Amino acid sequence: MSTTSRRRFLQHASTAGLACSTSLLFGRSLSAHPASEPVRIYVDSKRTISPIDRNLFGSFLEHLGRAIYEGISDPGSKLSDSNGFRKDVMEEIRHLGVPIIRYPGGNFVSGYNWLDGVGPKQDRPRVLDRAWNSLNSNQFGTNEFLAWCKAVGTEPLMGLNLGTGTSEQAADLVEYCNVSNGTRWSDLRRKHGFAEPHKVQRWCLGNEMDGPWQIGHMSATDYGAKAADAARQMRYVDPSLKLVACGSSGPGMPTYLEWDREVLEQCYEYVDGLSLHRYFENAEPPGGDSAKFLAMNLSMERQIAETIAVCDLVRGHKRSPKKLWLSFDEWNVWYRERRGDAVNGHGKMAPHLLEEIYNLEDALLVGGLINSLVRNSDRVKLACLAQLVNVIAPIMTNAEGLFRQTIYYPYSWALQFARGAALNLLVESSTYDVPGFERVPHVIATFQTLTNWKSIGKITHPRASRTPQCLLARI
Ligand code: AHR
Repeated sequence: MSTTSRRRFLQHASTAGLACSTSLLFGRSLSAHPASEPVRIYVDSKRTISPIDRNLFGSFLEHLGRAIYEGISDPGSKLSDSNGFRKDVMEEIRHLGVPIIRYPGGNFVSGYNWLDGVGPKQDRPRVLDRAWNSLNSNQFGTNEFLAWCKAVGTEPLMGLNLGTGTSEQAADLVEYCNVSNGTRWSDLRRKHGFAEPHKVQRWCLGNEMDGPWQIGHMSATDYGAKAADAARQMRYVDPSLKLVACGSSGPGMPTYLEWDREVLEQCYEYVDGLSLHRYFENAEPPGGDSAKFLAMNLSMERQIAETIAVCDLVRGHKRSPKKLWLSFDEWNVWYRERRGDAVNGHGKMAPHLLEEIYNLEDALLVGGLINSLVRNSDRVKLACLAQLVNVIAPIMTNAEGLFRQTIYYPYSWALQFARGAALNLLVESSTYDVPGFERVPHVIATFQTLTNWKSIGKITHPRASRTPQCLLARI
């Protein structure tokens, strides 16, 4: 693009913000088209996909490894406040502006008794968490988490135990959190020192209940019926709740989509959203396959499209006026620290688990995945980068302070810049081939309707003579 035409392009796009990522930086032979072929992005600020919900850029904290203990709660540390909350971590999360955080799991939640984590700290039991074979002192529980959320300015997305837990216990926790006073569980909360209700609006009905690894794993029919029962009981306590049913744990599951269909046949009328999970790997061949890895966001988009199709199929069966939204409440790159001692706490407190160290490729894919979420923001209304601190995380801590991993940056840019409404773009780009994918474009892009965006420059493809004009640019 010449300087003049680029200027004209920028003028036309003056109400739009742009974030692109690319596969150009890496890969084997990524060029299937002549290197001189230009990339064109057609922007029409009137053609919006949807306003972008801030909750698209949520995150996740599980009682796993050093996410909670040593991550956000470290009472003995010189870096902690009088509540034992790490001040440096709180400051970092406040600065990021994370809108919503899922807690307390994950696999952990399916064996968790929330009553162990409330009340006087000296009376709380030390419990062996069977999901990660780790010790939980229960010194950090529901009230601590909700107080911490308030302190960092984020909203809680509470997970419920539908594994070993009952629907009744789920409704009890809602009563404990949300009813003002005058009932058994609300009065217990008040006795525990929290006079005001926490008013938690969003709840996940269990975690990955389709997975044989999940404590309390059950069939889709059983889970769907249990989710419906829990949702009904919870809504008797607080009708304003927003509830997410457990969808399939990913396209690799043998029951993928069939699980989602059957679950929704059971509980469609009682829930508002359906969850999706996905972790991306770059393990094969040794050293990874960059060309394929960087195309994986397309696979996320396919997963979203397929899951929407199932939601809408059941909506049709039910003749329901309600359209479900999707909660992509676990997504990230995770493959190095995924087996053996990396996932086994050996009965210890705050073991080093899932402490994945990220590289530039991982950050590029995370950028691509964020773009995909934005492009699907008409149906994906909530998503959580899994996780936030120490465990497959953008932020790592030690006794002296914290550091930011590579994936921190695309995540923080999304939080900073992805505002307004996502635009429906036409991107013309050269493509490359990856087995199992259709043609993979070299350039992917999202624009948002926004003013005051400035160009931050361009990135040059190191292996080709051309210079893509708008990679990672904001206009
Ligand atoms: O985020 C780590 C784990 O991955 C979660 O506990 C579980 O839900 C998923 O399998």
